[in-house]
Amino acid sequence: MNIDSHLFVIFGGTGDLAERKLLPSLVRLIRDEEAGDRCVVLGVSRQDLGDAAYREWAKNALLESGLGEPGVERWCDDNLHHQALAGDAGGFEALRKRIESIEAEQGLPGNRVFYLAIPPGAFTPTIEALGAAGLNHAPGWARVVVEKPFGTDLESARALNDLLLSQFDESQIYRIDHYLGKATVQNLLTFRFTNPMFERLWNRDRVSRVEITVAEDLGIGGRAGYYERAGVVRDMVQNHLTQLLALVAMEPPNFFEADHIRDEKVKVITAVAPIDPDDVVYGRYEAGTRNGQGVPGYLDEAGVSPDSTTPTFVGLRLYVDSWRWQGIPFLLRTGKRLPQRSTHITVTFREPALCVFHGRRDDCVHEPDVLLIILEPDEGFSLRFNVKSPAEDTTIDTQSLHFRYSDVYGKLPDAYQTLILDILEGEQTLFVRADEVEASWKLYDPLLELPPKLVGYTAGTWGPPEMGQGVPLGA
Ligand code: BG6
Repeated sequence: MNIDSHLFVIFGGTGDLAERKLLPSLVRLIRDEEAGDRCVVLGVSRQDLGDAAYREWAKNALLESGLGEPGVERWCDDNLHHQALAGDAGGFEALRKRIESIEAEQGLPGNRVFYLAIPPGAFTPTIEALGAAGLNHAPGWARVVVEKPFGTDLESARALNDLLLSQFDESQIYRIDHYLGKATVQNLLTFRFTNPMFERLWNRDRVSRVEITVAEDLGIGGRAGYYERAGVVRDMVQNHLTQLLALVAMEPPNFFEADHIRDEKVKVITAVAPIDPDDVVYGRYEAGTRNGQGVPGYLDEAGVSPDSTTPTFVGLRLYVDSWRWQGIPFLLRTGKRLPQRSTHITVTFREPALCVFHGRRDDCVHEPDVLLIILEPDEGFSLRFNVKSPAEDTTIDTQSLHFRYSDVYGKLPDAYQTLILDILEGEQTLFVRADEVEASWKLYDPLLELPPKLVGYTAGTWGPPEMGQGVPLGA
């Protein structure tokens, strides 16, 4: 794919995301000659830094990410710029002039990315001001990238979509869900739709349940201000887990193109039956351990209110009322301060119709076949099946076939690198469309309106005891 020379404007140019993800990803793409002939970056923030100080800041940030080569330093000196932005209309006029002058100096054709790596409260004024300054159009193309969280409920997500669509066309809008940039998540469709062996089994006749787990061993870190208002459903379920659900449950698209794929994902999300509040278990971590060290409970984290009702864990059961999945439970589970970091999907297949080896069904002792898809870490697959124990007459053992990405492919690319490359290519498959994000909020809004019935769990355990063990089978 030929990538046009462009100016990459980062709002929040000195923020955490720019420092840890955006600049390192851009520099890796440039180093690998994947970011087009010219990629010039303009970092925008409130501080009045100037180009020289911004370049020094960026060099340090890149060094931290293992990108300290002289070539990188030279690139920073030649291609990094900074613009201080006061939040008024004059500020955006000045920004437009600066963009035009950088483009003229550097001989850029006027293709622009506006990456909103800013707190969600700043989305609205920034989008409005971009439109008012005429920056929603460009001599070449203009693309706007919106980081999560995209709204806090259906109403706010709709309002944000309405605003975005009043200034930009959907084809210019890139809503980020970084899970879609993960190589293993993209592989879900390749795996399903290039291996008819599994696709033939991928339905209510052959599958008895699907579990999607995103376990994190970390707590909320220094993010109480955000997390207290968000909680686990907004932070993880409405976006990341629902995207995984859509990819696991969707029908094959007519073509492998952004809108065909997104059409099928929307069909899954809108087919989910209203979630029964009795099918939802919320938890909140209490003091416990991580890697043998004591860690505080959620209520003792800095910035958390003593009467907080914010859940840090949720397990829920939902049903996709489609021809393929009707009646099959999908179990979604995610939480902080669990024993290990693990994102995985298990597809459990139905047991044999008859238990021929034991005569009577009640005596059946073998396990169902399970496909385990490990998305992170130690990415790969594991297929569990039964074998006759060679030594015993009647004993049935459970064994697994394994595939590990690292054995074959080495380190997988960073999600942000993949996403940025797609933004530069104008490829929207891995970005969430307006109707998709709204369908998802519509599904979870009723849950968010009810006070969560919280069950405490000890940090370093698998969540509320009734949720059982979350250990990936065979991992
Ligand atoms: C973010 C959430 O979107 O995803 C965080 O805000 C969470 O709370 C993170 O820790 C998990 O992402 P990953 O890629 O580390 O699984």
